[in-house]
Amino acid sequence: MEGRMSTNVHVVTHPLAQHKLTLMRRADAPTAEFRQLAREIAMLMLYDLTRDLPLTEQEIETPLARMKAPVLAGKKLCLVPILRAGLGLVDAMLELVPSARVGHIGIYRDPSTLDAVEYYLKVPEDVSACLVIVVDPMLATGNSACAAIRRLKDLGVENIRFACLLSAPEGIAALTAEHPDVPIYTIAVDERLNDHAYIVPGLGDAGDRLFGTK
Ligand code: URA
Repeated sequence: MEGRMSTNVHVVTHPLAQHKLTLMRRADAPTAEFRQLAREIAMLMLYDLTRDLPLTEQEIETPLARMKAPVLAGKKLCLVPILRAGLGLVDAMLELVPSARVGHIGIYRDPSTLDAVEYYLKVPEDVSACLVIVVDPMLATGNSACAAIRRLKDLGVENIRFACLLSAPEGIAALTAEHPDVPIYTIAVDERLNDHAYIVPGLGDAGDRLFGTK
């Protein structure tokens, strides 16, 4: 399902994920369809991102016999969407991992400097003991992702993965340079950023398309 670009970047090459991303990119996809596709693609993304989670065995009883069966072991999962577009992926991820914790980090891009400005943070008390998945549909400049991950590391989090739908080479370079320990999961890597730091060809403003605000 997965192709690797460099040591840090995992491209989710599953045909369903690739197909759904193409449908999302289309400028004429209505809000409801875009949102539904985001949910579906988020599940495929999480499926891939969790494929190496450790398992242990638990003794259970089926209707026919006792057996030792695999169950998840290891750290609790905590999903941290970067507000607001990250919210569009989290509910679907929770359907796959209902016991995951959820933290929220609010970061906006200053339109003139493109710097990341934090305006909200609420994470579980035991976040430092979790495997944290930072979720944002678009890895553009990488400023928001880097700032969110920096903040989580300041809180003591050691195990972090970053999940996005689309990434730009510039964002991958920035995130890899500042946080080489954080694997990046993406459905596609596009050509470049434009002068307004939008990903080209991209899919437009993910937040606006998810929430119908433009
Ligand atoms: N954020 C978006 O929503 N889209 C882009 O292309 C870049 C950042």
